This record gives sequence, C-alpha cells and structure tokens, in this order.
Amino acid sequence: AYVITSPCIDVKDGACVDVCPVDCIYEGGRMFYIQPDECIDCGICESICPVAAIYPDDDLPAEEAPFLAANRAYFGAE
Ligand code: SF4
Ligand code: F3S
Repeated sequence: AYVITSPCIDVKDGACVDVCPVDCIYEGGRMFYIQPDECIDCGICESICPVAAIYPDDDLPAEEAPFLAANRAYFGAE
C-alpha cells in the first residue's frame, strides 16, 4: 500500500483524494491517511501530491518510516 507522510501535515492539499480510483484516502486531523487494505497500489496519488508526501510502503525514506504504522493505526488495521 501507499503511505502518506509528514509533508501532508497542515498542508492537506486533497488532490490525492480526487484521483484515488478506490476512494481509500481519508481526512484525519492534521493530515490525510491511506487505508492500507483498500489501496490497490496504482500510484496515481504519489504522482499528483504537490508536496510529494506519498510513498510506496516499501520505499519510505527512513525519517518517514513511522508513518507506515501511523497510517495503519488510524484505521485500526493490523
Ligand atoms: Fe489510492 Fe492508488 Fe494512492 Fe492507493 S496508490 S491510495 S489506490 S491513488
Ligand atoms: Fe496530503 Fe498531498 Fe494528499 S498534501 S492531502 S497527501 S495531495
């Protein structure tokens, strides 16, 4: 699944929500989150985010690694 990371905080552009074909991106507090069990790994959101906040979960920069768990935890996913 794809993961939203720190650049989204307090930016919340929302472009990713409009392009996601399965509507698996949700607003939550200071940022948006991707529901990992619904994401189909199409990559469209990554290409459109103006602050480059979105990464594949297997290609996260080290400093953004905590957001993998944060995205899952937001939905109570394992
Ligand atoms: Fe939605 Fe595709 Fe982004 Fe997953 S990779 S959140 S399916 S736009
Ligand atoms: Fe956030 Fe980028 Fe989406 S700023 S809301 S991840 S387009």
